[in-house]
Amino acid sequence: MRASRAATAGKHFLPAPHSFPAVFVLILLLGFNSSVDLFCDAQKLAPDEVATLKVIGSKLKKKWDFSMDPCSGTNGWVTPGRKDMPVFANNVTCNCNSTSNICHVTSILLKGQNLTGTLPAEFANLTFLTDIDLTWNYLNGTIPVAWASLPLVHLSILGNRVSGTIPKELGDISTLKELILEGNQLQGPIPAELGKLANLTYFLANGNNLSGELPDSLGNLKNLQYFMIDANPISGKIPSFIGNWTQLLRLDMQGTSVEGPFPPNFKALKSLQQLRVSDLKGGIGTFPPLQDMKNMQRLVLRNLSIPGELPDYIGEMNKLATLDLSFNNLSGSIPSSYGGLASSLNNLYLTNNKLNGTIPSWILTSGQKFDVSYNSFTGSPAPATCQLGTVNLVSSYSSTSLDNIKWCLRRNLPCYGHPTSMRTH
Ligand SMILES: *[C@@H]1O[C@H](CO)[C@@H](O)[C@H](O)[C@H]1NC(C)=O
Ligand SMILES: *[C@@H]1O[C@H](CO)[C@@H](O)[C@H](O)[C@H]1NC(C)=O
Ligand SMILES: *[C@@H]1O[C@H](CO)[C@@H](O)[C@H](O)[C@H]1NC(C)=O
Ligand SMILES: *[C@@H]1O[C@H](CO)[C@@H](O)[C@H](O)[C@H]1NC(C)=O
Ligand SMILES: *[C@@H]1O[C@H](CO)[C@@H](O)[C@H](O)[C@H]1NC(C)=O
Ligand SMILES: *[C@@H]1O[C@H](CO)[C@@H](O)[C@H](O)[C@H]1NC(C)=O
Ligand SMILES: *[C@@H]1O[C@H](CO)[C@@H](O)[C@H](O)[C@H]1NC(C)=O
Ligand SMILES: *[C@@H]1O[C@H](CO)[C@@H](O)[C@H](O)[C@H]1NC(C)=O
Ligand SMILES: *[C@@H]1O[C@H](CO)[C@@H](O)[C@H](O)[C@H]1NC(C)=O
Ligand SMILES: *[C@@H]1O[C@H](CO)[C@@H](O)[C@H](O)[C@H]1NC(C)=O
Ligand SMILES: *[C@@H]1O[C@H](CO)[C@@H](O)[C@H](O)[C@H]1NC(C)=O
Repeated sequence: MRASRAATAGKHFLPAPHSFPAVFVLILLLGFNSSVDLFCDAQKLAPDEVATLKVIGSKLKKKWDFSMDPCSGTNGWVTPGRKDMPVFANNVTCNCNSTSNICHVTSILLKGQNLTGTLPAEFANLTFLTDIDLTWNYLNGTIPVAWASLPLVHLSILGNRVSGTIPKELGDISTLKELILEGNQLQGPIPAELGKLANLTYFLANGNNLSGELPDSLGNLKNLQYFMIDANPISGKIPSFIGNWTQLLRLDMQGTSVEGPFPPNFKALKSLQQLRVSDLKGGIGTFPPLQDMKNMQRLVLRNLSIPGELPDYIGEMNKLATLDLSFNNLSGSIPSSYGGLASSLNNLYLTNNKLNGTIPSWILTSGQKFDVSYNSFTGSPAPATCQLGTVNLVSSYSSTSLDNIKWCLRRNLPCYGHPTSMRTH
């Protein structure tokens, strides 16, 4: 093994033997010396990086084929995408200097490969590396502090078993645009130093065990577009610096210990397309100020004890596909402006509120996955059934309203003990 690798290494700057005659003939015919580069694989990964890749391969239990140059794009160094596996990727890509013929690794994508082992600090020796993507593997260990010396633009360890804290040194990677830590076992606070990442556009950290408050320095992340911290015990008030994130497209904060209300300057996030907030400790007090967010596509404000009436302006969000305001304390009727949502909405969940008045016909006839169950509607005539196609109307009617409505429409269904006896209504 060793001997044959050494032999290949010795031929770095020679054309591969099989291509030699063809190249030779071409040179004779054309007298065009520089065309040699087109016919040989003279460009090679820098030897210290080859050594580093061997160490990384052993730590990740990745069986790379070092009989080929890692920058060759062949023999498992670059693999075509696989239709059967949407998250699969297997590419090592390089940047080559055509004068010196020396290459450097710039990107390592190893997605969905069932890799086991630990995150290798040795990535830090690939000093030209801008992309590390280890999405969906079984890697453990901690995020190596040494990675902070790399010119990374994209770092993803999504869906692994990485533990420990987020190193504060990641705040030194000034080039970083995408920091994707979702679905690991990271704990402790989000370091204040991440506020130095002026170009950060993605901070995705759903499904970890991050705690503490969101540090004020995050208010400096003016380029943030995606911020997702679902299912982490992060605490404290929803910070007012959030109003600085004017480029934000998506904010997810479901199942955290963050406390409302939304600060008034949340109104400034006019580009927001997706807002998902649910199950916050103690609810959020009032409806957030979303009046200027005309591009909203998915709005989820669920189980937040929101009181008061539905804001009219939601009816003007004409790109809205999902509206989930379920498990709140909303009262009054569904505003007539919401009729404007009929053409864009695919999912509507208003279940478990105290909405009254008439259920608008655009809901009853929608044919979409709409759920207005567990409310206090009063309008007549009441629907004849509790399941109109895909529209769920169970317990949507005030129990004090009309006597002659179907039993399953009534709020506070007395059905637990004797459901069959109630069917006579
Ligand atoms: C990585 O770099 C460090 C410090 O420069 C060096 O000690 C170590 O041997 C290198 N590791 C590899 C695998 O090249
Ligand atoms: C990996 O390389 C293959 C082949 O060039 C390409 O089709 C694929 O898009 C690359 N995957 C990623 C995630 O860049
Ligand atoms: C490419 O290599 C040559 C020769 O070693 C060097 O002079 C040049 O600076 C290198 N170019 C880049 C972009 O690194
Ligand atoms: C990963 O493991 C799963 C389950 O065993 C298997 O279906 C899948 O093909 C494996 N993926 C790869 C890239 O080997
Ligand atoms: C990491 O995973 C490897 C193999 O999957 C295992 O042998 C090792 O004990 C794990 N280490 C930790 C700290 O969990
Ligand atoms: C930040 O992004 C801008 C625009 O893409 C770019 O010009 C600049 O070099 C980036 N800064 C760093 C430190 O990478
Ligand atoms: C979550 O982190 C806390 C420390 O912040 C720790 O005490 C707890 O054990 C961790 N939980 C899990 C499931 O790892
Ligand atoms: C928000 O941005 C302003 C000006 O752009 C800046 O002065 C302020 O420090 C930022 N707020 C926070 C909390 O970072
Ligand atoms: C609402 O959120 C609380 C935590 O704040 C949780 O305990 C409860 O199960 C949630 N209720 C629903 C209906 O999701
Ligand atoms: C819902 O609102 C009513 C007043 O309309 C109030 O009495 C009740 O406490 C509220 N419930 C919750 C869970 O906030
Ligand atoms: C609907 O609820 C609102 C607010 O709770 C109340 O003011 C109004 O009288 C109710 N309307 C009907 C028809 O019950």
